[in-house]
Amino acid sequence: MTSTTSPLVFLEAIHQEIQQTEYGQQPAELYDPIGYIMNLGGKRMRPLLTLMAAYLFGDDWKKAIKPAVAVEVFHNFTLMHDDIMDQAPLRRGQPTVHEKWNHNIAILSGDVMLVNAYKLLLDVEIPHLKKVLSHFNRTAAEVCEGQQLDMNFETRWDVSEEEYIEMIKLKTSVLLGFALELGAIIAGADDEASALLCEGGINIGLGFQLKDDLLDVYGDPVKFGKQVGGDIIANKKTFLLIKALQLAEGDLKTELTGWLRATDFDKQEKVRAVTAIYDQLGIRQLTEERINNYFTQGFTNFGQVSAEPDRKALLIDFTEQLIGRES
Ligand code: IPE
Ligand code: IPE
Ligand code: MG
Ligand code: MG
Ligand code: MG
Repeated sequence: MTSTTSPLVFLEAIHQEIQQTEYGQQPAELYDPIGYIMNLGGKRMRPLLTLMAAYLFGDDWKKAIKPAVAVEVFHNFTLMHDDIMDQAPLRRGQPTVHEKWNHNIAILSGDVMLVNAYKLLLDVEIPHLKKVLSHFNRTAAEVCEGQQLDMNFETRWDVSEEEYIEMIKLKTSVLLGFALELGAIIAGADDEASALLCEGGINIGLGFQLKDDLLDVYGDPVKFGKQVGGDIIANKKTFLLIKALQLAEGDLKTELTGWLRATDFDKQEKVRAVTAIYDQLGIRQLTEERINNYFTQGFTNFGQVSAEPDRKALLIDFTEQLIGRES
């Protein structure tokens, strides 16, 4: 049997569900930012992964739509709070919620988004509900753990590559793994298949966050929709900075550590200078190689799932596009 649907059909279903979702009404300051962030666009990658995973195991992928949107609502909640933590001015090309409203509003709107994510997850059929909620709870706690490590690492200089990978696994990858596993569970897949999809999602997620770190330095600001250089300004221990700290020697090392130590600096000047150091060290190529490795590992995991090749190809083709993404 050939596949009869396409990612566009899934995307349309996700958009329709997002338009229909009601988060609450009063007070408007609490709920307006939710409509705002949910309608800023975004790739909708996580709910797409959920629907593609469900489709691997049968045609009844529509029963995964609300839970898929739950993952998207949860993701947008983490972005709302992440933007406060990262002091980010822009999200998807528009002002962040804490900039447009204020910090307290962004905290509280985010909190009620998490509640709304649980409401949407309640759509999962009873036989699967307990497993889904328990895996979601674990994932959500891990995202918080990753975000705390990300913060802790800002003021450390000796963060190892292994610590960095563990941090991004927690803050980003586990949610991609969960998104895939969720679709599989809802579609009645066996434990082996859902575990393989989860593992594949984690590998894709590692490549995805490395690509995000790369775009934060080398992205086109208009396409990226976020402040380029934000990670450099905040001394984020990205793969790029960790590699540069490993490879830089002599004057270059002194210059790099000088920028990390600086407290009073011109932001644009720091971004330009650190980027030039990355250029000299060939950090971009090293990061791209690593991105490719993680994606390849993810495709291998997907390839091992016992499902129709056409349907697996849909998932692999979609995730492959994320390697070259510009936004
Ligand atoms: C941004 O996620 C946060 C990261 C984990 C890097 P996305 O790049 O999926 O953001 P949107 O939802 O498409 O805007
Ligand atoms: C955040 O990573 C991942 C989350 C859990 C929100 P980043 O801080 O790099 O995400 P962006 O670049 O702001 O989207
Ligand atoms: Mg962050
Ligand atoms: Mg951020
Ligand atoms: Mg980022």
